[in-house]
Amino acid sequence: MSIARKILHLKEERNAVILAHNYVNGEIQDIADFVGDSLELSLKAKACRAPVIVFCGVRFMAETAKILSPDSIVLHPNPNAGCPMADMADASAVAQYRAEHPDTLIVAYVNTTAETKTAVDICCTSGNAERVIRTIPPEQKILFLPDANLGANLIAKLNRPMELWPGYCPTHHRIFPETVEKARKAHPGALVLVHPECHPNVVRLADQSLSTGGMLKFVRESEHREFIIGTECGILHRMRKDNPGKKFYPLEPNPLCPNMKKITLEDVLFSLQDMEPRIRLNPEVIGKARAPIEKMLEIRP
Ligand code: 13P
Ligand code: SF4
Repeated sequence: MSIARKILHLKEERNAVILAHNYVNGEIQDIADFVGDSLELSLKAKACRAPVIVFCGVRFMAETAKILSPDSIVLHPNPNAGCPMADMADASAVAQYRAEHPDTLIVAYVNTTAETKTAVDICCTSGNAERVIRTIPPEQKILFLPDANLGANLIAKLNRPMELWPGYCPTHHRIFPETVEKARKAHPGALVLVHPECHPNVVRLADQSLSTGGMLKFVRESEHREFIIGTECGILHRMRKDNPGKKFYPLEPNPLCPNMKKITLEDVLFSLQDMEPRIRLNPEVIGKARAPIEKMLEIRP
């Protein structure tokens, strides 16, 4: 029996649901019950009420699933799959900032640890960040963390001053304007889509700046046939699968998140066999980290 079939078999036995981010290896996306962006996965984790969730993505995403479904067992098949940007906003440094700036509202990108979420006011994802910021009164001071690129892109789009934490995504920060210009020259008829974790100088050159879920929706609904994709290459798997008549060009060099690629089919199988490694969080951390996530989820499109 193939590994994929063994996983599907065991998944039934365990009554488990497999959630996967748009960046993980294609073979994992193919066996998942649901593939999505951070916001879609948070909503799915909350709604699915499965006794076992196998979360194929980086750690902060699996933690979010655990925070929203504390009674479920959340398996994270490779505990080494972390997000370097999430680790750039240390919980104690954020708590110290909070103590020193009691009049500042802290907006945290979901790419933060559970511990850090306990010290913030509201979360956002790349899919809802604009909506979240728009709900905050204009006179309110804001600290946006940890992604200074996403923050700077929001400031430019919404004309809204915010203080920025000096974090960045190593994968998206390494996409240069020249790389996008080169791709445009090679494919002059293609639309350029980039992720808002890219530097504002890159976003300025793009036709659209969207979350991974936003990109998938855009290419599905667009009448255009060709797209240059400025985000992690794992998304190309689903784009090509869902849109066989359209062409997708990655950037050169192709952006890759090494952490998203750490999760293998073997890891997923072993996690279902052993029911480990699990996300274990202190109930107090779950309680405090849940509030800013729930606040975000209350804001509807
Ligand atoms: P999305 O919410 O757009 O899927 O982004 C998550 C992420 O980590 C991007 O690097
Ligand atoms: Fe983190 Fe960047 Fe990887 Fe997304 S692509 S998980 S932000 S390191």
